[in-house]
Formats: sequence, C-alpha cells, structure tokens
Amino acid sequence: MCGIVAYVGHREACPVVIKGLKRLEYRGYDSAGVALMNGHGLKVYKKKGKVVALERELEGKETHSTIGMGHTRWATHGEPNDVNAHPHYSFHRKLAIIHNGIIENYAAIKQALLKKGHTFTSETDTEVLGQFIEDIWENNGGTLEDAVRLALQEVVGAYAIVVMSETDSTQLIAARKGSPLVIGVGEENEFFLASDATPIVEYTKDVIYLNDYEIAVIKEGDLKIVNLDNTTTTPYVHKIEMELAAIEKGGYDHFMLKEIFEQPRSIADSMRGRVQADAGILQLGGLRDYMDKLARSERIVIIGCGTSWHAGLVAEYIFEELARIPVEVEYASEFRYRNPIIKEGDIVIAISQSGETADTLAAIELAKSKGATIFGVCNVVGSSIARATDAGAYTHAGPEIGVASTKAFTAQVTVLTIMALEAAQRKGTISESLFRQLLVELESIPAKVEMVLQAADKIKEIAYIFTYARNFIYLGRGLNFPVALEGALKLKEISYIHAEGYPAAEMKHGPIALIDEDMPVVVIATKDSSYEKVVSNIQEVKARKGRVIAITTEGDTDLPGMVDFTIEIPKVHSMLMPLISAIPLQLLAYYIAVMRGRNVDQPRNLAKSVTVE
Ligand code: F6R
Repeated sequence: MCGIVAYVGHREACPVVIKGLKRLEYRGYDSAGVALMNGHGLKVYKKKGKVVALERELEGKETHSTIGMGHTRWATHGEPNDVNAHPHYSFHRKLAIIHNGIIENYAAIKQALLKKGHTFTSETDTEVLGQFIEDIWENNGGTLEDAVRLALQEVVGAYAIVVMSETDSTQLIAARKGSPLVIGVGEENEFFLASDATPIVEYTKDVIYLNDYEIAVIKEGDLKIVNLDNTTTTPYVHKIEMELAAIEKGGYDHFMLKEIFEQPRSIADSMRGRVQADAGILQLGGLRDYMDKLARSERIVIIGCGTSWHAGLVAEYIFEELARIPVEVEYASEFRYRNPIIKEGDIVIAISQSGETADTLAAIELAKSKGATIFGVCNVVGSSIARATDAGAYTHAGPEIGVASTKAFTAQVTVLTIMALEAAQRKGTISESLFRQLLVELESIPAKVEMVLQAADKIKEIAYIFTYARNFIYLGRGLNFPVALEGALKLKEISYIHAEGYPAAEMKHGPIALIDEDMPVVVIATKDSSYEKVVSNIQEVKARKGRVIAITTEGDTDLPGMVDFTIEIPKVHSMLMPLISAIPLQLLAYYIAVMRGRNVDQPRNLAKSVTVE
C-alpha cells in the first residue's frame, strides 16, 4: 500500500523524492504528491495519477529545497483525486503530513476537531491526523515532536507517517506502527526515509528499520529515536545487500517479465548454502535451533494470503507426504478473526513475500498469544513479519517489483520444500535414497526452469490466440492443484480476465456446466500418479468442445493429438513439479495481459504490499 519517501540533507530534495516515488510506485499508484520548503515556505504539490503526472505538475515551479517528502497513494479513505492525494496540510498549514496505513478512530478525532471549528478539505483519515497533531502543538505549548507523540498515543490503527513543519527546514519527524518505515543514513548528516529500502539503496547501504511505536526525529543533521512514552532508544544500523540493478528493469519491457526470467537464479539463490546434493546435506541456518521442534510437531498451520497462500497449499502436500505431519493451510485474513485451536507443539508457518501483509501480521500475533511457535518464510529482509516470528528462512528471491508475484512464489516453494525434507529426514519418514534423489533433483531445477523459459515464444503465440477470451478455467491435481489456482490468479490480476482454478476432478461437480467452445481450459497434465485421471478430465472437456491448453511432460506423445495446444515442460519428481509447472502459466498470463494492453506491473486496484486489512 502507499509509498513514503523523504529526504533532508545537502542535496536537492525534489529529484531524490521523485525518483524515490517512482521506485515505490508499485506500492500504490492512484495519486502522488510532494511537500517542499522552497522560497515560498512549506509547499505541497499533488496530482491524481502516476508520478509522471506529478512531475508535469511540478514543471516550472520553484522546487529548490534541501528537505522534502513525497507519497504515492493506494486509496483507502476517499476516491483517488487531487484533493485526497497526500501530503495534507494541517488546518493552519503549519505542517504537512504523509501517511501509509489506516487511522481507525479518525471519525471520533474528526468530530472533536469539528466541534473546535476545524474544517477539512479531503475525505482522508490522514488529514485528520495532521490537524490533530497541529491542534496539540498549538494548544499544549510543547514542541512538534511532543505533539506528534501525544497525538499518536491517542491513535488506534496502523501508520507510517512523516511530518514536515513550516518552522524548521532541517526537521523531519517520522513514526510507525504496523506499516513499514526505513531510515537511510547517508553522507554528511543526510537522512532518507522510505517505506522500503528501494529508494535509498543508490545513496547508502546503511539503514535503520524503525520499530512499532517508535518516533524518529531528524533535526539539524542528527537523528534521535524515542518510544511513544518518550524513552530514547539506540538504533541499530543494518547493512543492506540489495544492489541497484536488482530494482531496475535491466532491458526487459516489464519488471514482471524480468522477474519470471530471473527464476533460474532466484531459485538457485533460495537454495544456496542450504542444499548440497553431492554430500547429501540439507540445512536451513535460520531454523537450526528449531528443526527438532518442527520434526516432533503434531500439526503445522500455514498462514498467508494470495500467492503466498498458494505456496502454503503446495507445502501442505509436501510436508504431509514426506514428513507425515498434518498440515492446515489458512488464509491469514480468516485465521485472525476466528478463535483458532492452537495446541502445544503446533508450529505456525507464516509465508509472505513483502513481510508486511497486515492480515498475516495480525494472524501471527494471534497465534503467538496462543503459545504457538512461529516460523517465517519471507522475502524482504528486516520486514515486520520476519521480525515478528520466532525463527525463519528468507527466500532470497531478490526484490520483486512487479505487483503480480512470480519469482517469490517459486522461492517460497523451494524454501518450504527444503524445510519439509529436513523435517522428514530428522523424523525418519523418508528413505535415504528418496532424500538423496530429491536433493539432486532440487539442484537441477534452475536448469529445468531455464528450459521452460525457452518456450516463451510458443507461449506468446498461444496467448495471442486467446487474448480476447472472456473466461478461463485452470485444472490440476495433487501438487498441481495449487499451481492451477496460482495460474488463474496471475491471469485475473494482470489481464482482468475472469479465471478460476479447480482440482481437475471437481470439474464434474459444477464447473463443467461452463464448458463450451468459448471456454479455454488450461490443464496441468504432467506425468505423475494422477496423469490417467487428468487425461480423463481432459476428455470430458473436449467432449463438450472446450479448448484445452495442456502443460505436458516432455516426450508425451498422447496429449498432442487430444488437446488444442501443448506446452512441454521437463520431467521432474512430482514433489518438485510446482517449481516447473508454474512457469508457463506465469508467461501465459503475462503475454495475454500485454496483448490486451494492460499495465502489467501496476494492475488496476492492486498494490504490492497490502498493509491494510
Ligand atoms: C498475487 C500477489 C498477492 C500476494 C498477497 C500476499 O500475485 O502478489 O496475492 O501474494 O497479497 O502478499 P505477501 O506475500 O507479501 O504477504
């Protein structure tokens, strides 16, 4: 959700902020705005639409300023328009504020301010918070820092905020609870603030992750961090490893395509130092002290949302099959509002690319309060979920900028597979020969993904034929069922075509009524124990004139004559098949969306990091 960026130091702030907003645009792209302290005091410029619209708005304006902050919005309160865009001035325009999150009790605060004669220009909760801070500042006699702290003590909800005032061109005040905020410590006492490290990485590798309930006060080149109760805390400076190239398109038309093509490397990175097939060794360093607990656990509960939930469904099959541990996979958003039964010895695995998903974070807190041991499988280092869990394993897929998750999914599945294999070995539920075979096959996955990627042109041709389809059905069985769900999700989110995934055998219980000559059906029909059954399902579709695109194992000579199109993928052990079978579905969705002229990296209504409920 919304992206925040701010700068104070010796550079021109406006270009730093605008460039940062472009890097953060994947978090929200309804509107964008900046606040600067130029020759005319505290000035706010904002515009509905993308950051380029804001750039046009700024043309010819006085933008000279060594302090500035900017925001790219994903609308929560109020439609996306110029007025609701951030930053927001306070009532007397003494300060401006940007905000990511939701102030749940904003209506009560607004009522109190209305009674005092305040008026509001926008429909946002953010403007209410800005006015509230200013009101305290004007009436309590303390500093702006005091006013921010006192206001936040009253606030219910989630926030990452940055505040700039007209009275101090060296001061930025930032705070977080539930929404991420990173501080970059640059050269010559300059500081950067951002929702994640991507806008900061080209200036400095030294970052501080602000914790919940902390307020950062940057003033005259110094940084101080205090808690909401005004006790000072000592920040820990992390060195980030991210390289600039990792957050640029590198010659690809879209981040999504780049990220799909990065998978041979990202899958290899998620195994690096963890899988050594020749020595028969497997280890997840971050879980070393917890592995016995995992192997002894009587039940695993996996929580996640969207694509991460699909990776959890794949893991369910693998854990149950190899480690014989019962697994339940839950949408984090449902789990958090039930009264889930967590027993002693249960392990909860939270999966999240961003590590910031609000529902997953809340589900973790609930599971923790019930005494569960929580593991995290996150991509973003230092993210809130990574820090909220007892132990975990990073997926090391590298920054994922395209809103539709691709390489994060295969990296999650890789890490979860390693986890299940290690648990199975400790538990003694896997034979040595199968264990060794799976390690060897795991190491072969990057090369096999490379082979699938070579079919991109063929997939593009198929995409061309189905560009204007109105609906799609995706079918798969066993481990390929979650892949079918993931394929359908990819297609709907970036092409806006309605698509549904089903276990292949479920089709006859209802969805088969939809089949006719206008219905494309993507079937993952790889050679495994359910191959014959899936072939029967394909025949049921063909008998009703459905058009079948089958994902087949190389060398399959039966299916080409039976279906309309085949996409061959290399043979691999069925436990590892999702790592291969997901790839052609990502490409199919990508090419269809491009041919329909969609904004693939920033599909409508979506945002990369879902930090609100
Ligand atoms: C789909 C997609 C979303 C995310 C979901 C969870 O392509 O990206 O469904 O998977 O919002 O996000 P994370 O993994 O960051 O918790």
